[in-house]
Amino acid sequence: FPSFVMAEEKNLLAYNYNHDPKVQRRDFPSDFMFGVGTSAYQIEGAWKEDGKGLHIWDCFALRHPENITDGSNACVTVDFYHKMKEDVQVLKKMGVNSFRFSISWSRILPGGKVSMGKSLEGINFYNKLIDELKANDIEPFVTLFHWDLPNALEEEYMGFLSPKIVDDFVNYAEICFWEYGDRVKNWVTLNEPFRFTYYGYVKGRFAPGRGGVNHEDETETEPYNVAYNLINCHAAAYKKYQDDFKEAQNGKVGITLDVNFFKPFSGDKKDVKAVEYAYDFMFGLFMEPITSGDWPKNVQKFARMGSVHYPQGRNESVIPSFTIDQKETLKQSYDFLGINYYTASFAKSVESSGLSKGFETDMRYEESVKDISGNYAGEPAFDGTWVFLCAKELVDLLFYIKKTYKVENYFVITENGAPEENEDGSYFDSGNDPEKKKVIKTYEQVKDDEFRVKYIKWHLEAIRRANSRWTVDSIIWKKHLVMGYFVWSFTDSYEWSGGYTQRFGLNYVDYKNNLLRYPKSSALWYKKFLSGDKTSK
Ligand code: NOJ
Repeated sequence: FPSFVMAEEKNLLAYNYNHDPKVQRRDFPSDFMFGVGTSAYQIEGAWKEDGKGLHIWDCFALRHPENITDGSNACVTVDFYHKMKEDVQVLKKMGVNSFRFSISWSRILPGGKVSMGKSLEGINFYNKLIDELKANDIEPFVTLFHWDLPNALEEEYMGFLSPKIVDDFVNYAEICFWEYGDRVKNWVTLNEPFRFTYYGYVKGRFAPGRGGVNHEDETETEPYNVAYNLINCHAAAYKKYQDDFKEAQNGKVGITLDVNFFKPFSGDKKDVKAVEYAYDFMFGLFMEPITSGDWPKNVQKFARMGSVHYPQGRNESVIPSFTIDQKETLKQSYDFLGINYYTASFAKSVESSGLSKGFETDMRYEESVKDISGNYAGEPAFDGTWVFLCAKELVDLLFYIKKTYKVENYFVITENGAPEENEDGSYFDSGNDPEKKKVIKTYEQVKDDEFRVKYIKWHLEAIRRANSRWTVDSIIWKKHLVMGYFVWSFTDSYEWSGGYTQRFGLNYVDYKNNLLRYPKSSALWYKKFLSGDKTSK
């Protein structure tokens, strides 16, 4: 392991995943947020109801079903929009004290911007949801942007490719703060900006579907512009809250970043270096600007180096520079840091040949689920998945982030979860292959989701250990290191380009019969755990 990881390898207690960890509810402070997570497009359905405008995912999934494993879309999905009240009762039964959901921008502003008009019905839907949650003692934990950009803005100025997005995002955020901030005290500006950028503008597998097989020369620098505009959206919304709402509403505003724990693909020092690049590109790309106000050094360096298209080296504008004002707004622009953690993976060095081009080459690493000897990082959720049980690595990751970026605020694990496969052999890269026979798993087949139970237990144990190590390590004890944990996901739902082929839910959804919900063992286990029942094994 690279030395910065070694330095944090202080865990003396073993992680024996074949045994039950000791973790209990009472190991966490009473105000620790325990919840489950969702996002609007994945669960709501009602894609054209009550004045909602179309967003880029509505359009992408309908226009490009070939990009979705089973060719599906989320026009209806699990119909949370209509089942909201019953679903809040399901949450209540599980005993969670928090619920993570996202607001769909195009329900609030169907045309994306204020001048095109607000939708009172859209605004009202989230008012009803928030009231229903509060009435059941569940705190709303709200994401403003979980990838569903109003399509009108994509059409008008290419969405996140234009700096115009910043004002429109802030106006949208302001409406949300104004309408809901009396009851919502936890805000996430952006969800997983890296995945949004990488799959949407490099791989072409997510909306708006740029890059990928259609990778054209002019798209090669798009990811940098998108990252730049996303970051400025985040910082401007954070500032808006500080300036105009903080005093009256006293909530917290953070961001949710996705990151794996990276291990080197081999002992070769190139692969050890690739670990550093992996953190810089997947995580630092967003984390460094919101910490120090600028891009990570490696990103700056590689983004400006030569390629066949820029033999003299690219000019500086390939990666937009932050102005002095932007830098000031960016620095330390978060009250808490949301981390989506699923797995560890391996970083493999990719040398720039000088012939290739674009962001993907600049990254200088490739992610691999196996190391050089063919080993996985941990026990897989199922054959062929990208999710492995690597709970111990979460602790190391948190300390690595804390140290590298001098994080003073607390962490919230905004997502952690495991899928089960829904469809025989169709996972991920089978594409929309009509030859594959679809086998929708029945409740009976997936209800004993032992792997998920084990996965959640061990991540809770890891957080318990991280928190207790932090209180020991810190000289002046201020706050716990981690203050919240949200399992992904509340119910099975639409898994983006994976369609309905992966079930992440604690609760099963019967897609063939009225979208009925049934608890899997994990939902029952979580309930027991949260109730403080010591027999929660
Ligand atoms: C990341 C995303 O935020 C969420 O929408 C997705 O369903 C899960 N992780 C699982 O891939």
